[in-house]
Amino acid sequence: MTKKILILPGDGIGPEVMGEVERIIDWFNKERGLGAETERDLVGGCAYDAHGQAVSDATMAKAQEADAVLLGAVGGPKWDGVPFDVRPEAGLLRLRKDLELFANLRPALCFPALADASSLKRELVEGLDIMIVRELTGGVYFGEPRGIEDLPNGERRGFDTQVYSTHEVQRIGRVAFDLARKRGNRVTSVEKRNVMHSGVFWHEEMVKLHKAEFSDVTLDHMLADNCGMQLVKQPKQFDVIVTDNLFGDMLSDVAAMLTGSLGMLPSASLGGKDANGKAKALYEPVHGSAPDIAGQGLANPLATILSFAMALRYTFDLSADADLLEKAAETVLAEGYRTGDIMQPGMKKVGTKQMGDAVLAALTKLS
Ligand code: NAI
Ligand code: MG
Repeated sequence: MTKKILILPGDGIGPEVMGEVERIIDWFNKERGLGAETERDLVGGCAYDAHGQAVSDATMAKAQEADAVLLGAVGGPKWDGVPFDVRPEAGLLRLRKDLELFANLRPALCFPALADASSLKRELVEGLDIMIVRELTGGVYFGEPRGIEDLPNGERRGFDTQVYSTHEVQRIGRVAFDLARKRGNRVTSVEKRNVMHSGVFWHEEMVKLHKAEFSDVTLDHMLADNCGMQLVKQPKQFDVIVTDNLFGDMLSDVAAMLTGSLGMLPSASLGGKDANGKAKALYEPVHGSAPDIAGQGLANPLATILSFAMALRYTFDLSADADLLEKAAETVLAEGYRTGDIMQPGMKKVGTKQMGDAVLAALTKLS
């Protein structure tokens, strides 16, 4: 069966970094029989310019059909003035919502060659390999009621609602436990059950799920504020962290910075299966469109390349190919290749294309 990949390069450096991924997909098609068919389409500001929508219905239909969507980045100062509901980010939000991408996977992986780029000491981060699983479609960012209102006494107030139901906690929990079984077999569930009812509920449901289906995996619980401290103090204690939308947003950014540059960080967002049993997934780098360096061939393509490695692993179940691509990225770093964002004294400074060339050469050498 052919594998359908929808490529949405987006704005700014998106098309530049995605160009390198397309070359890598070609390599896997030729050398490893991947059998992927790719199609390019518009998302974000460029889509707004073309048809007044940050993502069109036609593009959404293609995304629903695809086995995996690869996204570059959206946005930039050019679209600062456009109406809120058609701004570039609206394209990304619609993709997440319509594909029901409820599980956001953010690995925090420290490549040995970059351990000195961390804000922490080398021994604390060298060999670090954490997976943060953030609930992405529920919680306080979506809960009702929400709003800003005038009160009779002349005051105003703003409010949001944190709410989770059983199936939401269970499905994100299953993703985390399944991942842990393929890694270090340990899940840390993070909430604030000391002050939040939704935290008590999250904790209870996680304990139930663990007992019913995953008792072979070690389950720990940690309060979110302590988790922030522990990530900075002793990050290697964690394997898989599972948490809600809000805490996951913050903790994944904290974990990310332990490993150095934005240009190195991949992500995956996984959804449920549709009526035909087809699972949805979107893969994208954590960084944005980097307008300050866009169009200059300077951007680091590794975050997007590593996002494709996650697609190989999680959508196509090709863990040997994913390992190979991750090893190739590790190799080019060990060989001293550096884009500007991760440049260190004595290393070889390269641009986007040369970094892609180096990864392709490493793939050929390693396979
Ligand atoms: P950004 O991630 O685009 O850039 C932050 C800094 O990191 C910049 O100095 C940039 O040059 C550098 N950087 C980022 N990725 C890099 C790479 N691959 N290689 C080398 N350097 C890299 O975040 P910023 O500046 O806050 O946002 C710029 C635009 O991107 C905004 O319009 C924002 O809304 C959008 N954005 C989009 C996201 C997405 O599509 N998922 C996520 C974050 C921001
Ligand atoms: Mg964030």
